[in-house]
Parts: sequence; structure tokens; C-alpha cells
Amino acid sequence: MALTITMGIQKGGCGKSTTTGILSYLLKEDGYRVLAIDMDSQGNLTELLSEQPSNEFIERSVLEALQQNDIKPYIVPISENLDLVPANNFLATLPRWIYTGKTYLGESIQYNGNPSLILDSALDQVRDKYDYIIIDTPPSLSEQTTNALCASEYVVVLFESSNWCYSALPNFMDSVDSANRFGNRDTKVVGILRTLNDARRSDAKAFNEMVAEDYPNHVFKTVITRKAPVGRLSLYGFNQNSELKQALELYRSFYKELIDRVEGK
Ligand SMILES: Nc1ncnc2c1ncn2[C@@H]1O[C@H](COP(=O)(O)OP(=O)(O)OP(=O)(O)O)[C@@H](O)[C@H]1O
Ligand SMILES: [Mg+2]
Repeated sequence: MALTITMGIQKGGCGKSTTTGILSYLLKEDGYRVLAIDMDSQGNLTELLSEQPSNEFIERSVLEALQQNDIKPYIVPISENLDLVPANNFLATLPRWIYTGKTYLGESIQYNGNPSLILDSALDQVRDKYDYIIIDTPPSLSEQTTNALCASEYVVVLFESSNWCYSALPNFMDSVDSANRFGNRDTKVVGILRTLNDARRSDAKAFNEMVAEDYPNHVFKTVITRKAPVGRLSLYGFNQNSELKQALELYRSFYKELIDRVEGK
């Protein structure tokens, strides 16, 4: 049965999509069967993994999968052992559909269950086909995020060393606790990943230390620094990228820490 891990923080530009893409890639390279799910209407994970514009997936995305309560027809094979359920801008209409029963195309599809458990229920059909399901979330505490949290056993919290991310952190930890209470997955934070770090900035160093003091049992030892090859993954992707090795370098030690934690090593 797959273990599901969500990447999240309700603050923009903290490395959620980049980390989701890299983690999915490292897992499948290790021989695990991986399903990556894009729960962000920006479609960044979709574009990173598929190397196609997210508009290519209109009416063939996670939104329709949730509305039809059927994930399988919306799975896009990316490479051996790696599949994707894509997203595009229309995922922003998810809350409207949940609360009115009208899709953005004007169709009536009522959902009568818990509005935060739609993804969890849809994933039941595919959990036995994968070892890991990895979910990217938007920078908000929307229905997209609560559905991802309630569908996950584990959450990696992304922390980018800034004051506004520091203030986002306690609220996000509370949201994971709420998912633990309301969902069926015993959702918990598996770790806080300090990322997009600028080693030359003393304030970044101070925030890193504050988070380590506040959450000593949660921080990963690995700190991801800003590196041009990581930033350029969005340009070059994972195939025929001559700087992929440098892009993945720092992430390998995070990957090892994460696997040790979730597999109880
Ligand atoms: N370690 C890194 N070094 C350099 N650039 C990075 C690194 N990690 C991410 N980036 C770049 O920083 C930007 C933000 O990263 P990303 O899109 O992964 O964050 P996000 O949290 O998913 O953002 P959003 O909240 O908008 O979804 C992107 O342009 C990405 O390419
Ligand atoms: Mg993102």
C-alpha cells in the first residue's frame, strides 16, 4: 500500500513544487513506484514533470478525477515507475464545485461527503499500485490543501528563511493537526525542510536556528541552499539536463533522511 506524502506551507515560493518534483524523481530512480499529484492550479509540478504546458491537460486533470471520483483515467505516465495526475488553472474552481455542485463547465455533479476527504477517497482505487504518492499543494490553506493533507500519512513542511514564512509555520502545523483529527490517515509532520537558503545572509541563518529551536524534533539536518541548477530545473527538466547531478546533490541527503523517517530506519 502506498505511503502518501504532501509538501506544503501556505506561503508562496518556498520550494514546494521543486521539492515534490525532485523527491518523485529520486524515489522512482530508486525503483519505487511513484504517483505524483499536482493539487496546485498553477500547474508547476505538471510542467516540471511532463515538460508540457499545463493547459495541455484541460479536462484531463486532477479536477475531473475528483469530480468523477476516479483517478485512473487521469493518470499520465511520465517514465518507468513515475506517473502524474496533472493540474491546470481550472483547479481553482474546486471549492466552487464542492459547495455548489456545479462544475466550471456547468455540469451538475453533487458531492455529499466531507469536502476535505474527496482526494483521500479517490486515491483508494490506486493505493495498491504505488509505493509512494507525492502531492504538491498551493500556497494557501484552500480545499486543495486540506484535501492533500487529509489524504496523507506524512507532510513535509517547506521553510524558506524569511519572517513571513516564519509566521506561516505555526498555522500550517495547526492545519496538519486538524487533518490528523478530521481525516482517516493519522496525518503527521514528518519534517521541516529549510530550503532556498542564502548562505551569505545572517538573517537566513538566524531564522534557520529559530526554527531548529522551535521544532527540534522536526527539522531535517539537511538545509537546501539556493543553487542555479536547482532553479533551472524548471527550464531544463529531468531529461537531457547536463546539470542535473548538481541540481540533485543537496536533495540526496534530504531524501535519505526522509526515507529513514518514513520507513522507520
Ligand atoms: N534550491 C533552489 N535554488 C535556486 N532556485 C530554487 C531552489 N528551489 C526552488 N527554486 C526556484 O525558486 C522558485 C520557487 O520555487 P517553487 O516554485 O518550487 O516554490 P513553491 O513553494 O512551489 O512556490 P508556489 O508557492 O508559488 O507554488 C522557483 O522559480 C524555483 O525554480
Ligand atoms: Mg508550487
